Amino acid sequence: MTTQEELQNTINDMVDNTRGILAADESNPTIAKRFDSIGVESTENNRRDYREILLTTEGLGDYISGIILFEETLAQKDDQGTLLPELAVQQRIVPGIKVDKGTGALPGAPGDKITYGLDGLADRLSGYKSQGARFAKWREVYPISHHNPSVLGLSANAEMLARYAAVCQEVGVVPIVEPEVLMDGEHDINRCAQVTEQVLHAVFEALVRHGVALELMLLKPNMVLPGKACLTQASSKEVATKTLRVLRRCVPAAVPSINFLSGGMSPEQATENLNALNQLATSPPWQLSISYGRALQQPALQAWQGDNRNRAATQAALLKRARLNSLAHQGQYRT
Ligand code: 13P
Repeated sequence: MTTQEELQNTINDMVDNTRGILAADESNPTIAKRFDSIGVESTENNRRDYREILLTTEGLGDYISGIILFEETLAQKDDQGTLLPELAVQQRIVPGIKVDKGTGALPGAPGDKITYGLDGLADRLSGYKSQGARFAKWREVYPISHHNPSVLGLSANAEMLARYAAVCQEVGVVPIVEPEVLMDGEHDINRCAQVTEQVLHAVFEALVRHGVALELMLLKPNMVLPGKACLTQASSKEVATKTLRVLRRCVPAAVPSINFLSGGMSPEQATENLNALNQLATSPPWQLSISYGRALQQPALQAWQGDNRNRAATQAALLKRARLNSLAHQGQYRT
């Protein structure tokens, strides 16, 4: 099989018109924060138990086609000795891996950020691939302020995403390209639209320049939303209209699927907004689907409470959100 065929097979297994991606790739500091919210200590064993419960949810593969894992999870096993990525495969869910190493300040661009992890990436990807990962995720983060993102921030972050995506495709791993414009702040929805458009424009310019095959990648963007502290919040209809306009301007039709992050939207909001998008966009060139972390997991985490006797309730909560988002992907969700 050529690398091209390998990438295409992975896209075929991940992209359809009903299923989406579950992001369960929280780094250890991030999962510690999530566990903290339910008073559970983040030990390796607790992380394994929780993620094993998510992965063995019966029927999850009806709604979820891919799962993003953290490095540690690739090597963890359930009590019967089955590797956790294998549990995903058994449900027709493609395992993937977060490969970036988090963010820091971008020198020369106060307020902007940059993501680490390019050094040695090809070797790391080959290792993850041998552990079963068929796709990868890399996130660049863009805070909004009066002067952010700067021109330098836009180009430097785009360059990172393009270099990462090119390395992934070279080793036969499908890249999820994730430029996240943050919801933090008082800015209004139009400012988010303006920044998201600048970001996506720069990202696709860099992807093309680096020779990334747009047919063999997935885009994971934010929706266009007002800042969390903005006094004027937006309806699903407005979010959908403004998000779709930016996507149509910036995302080439060659990209097979757009899988949104949830980024701090409530689970209900995230489903309603996706539904509004799919109702508005009659026959868009790309799938409009999910790659939600919190919006899929929050109710499941609340149900779990660190107690494995709550297994059934945890799985029911996850399955419910997955099912409702699948309906929203088809524009058929009803509140
Ligand atoms: P959220 O949906 O919680 O934003 O997480 C998605 C993700 O993978 C961020 O990188």
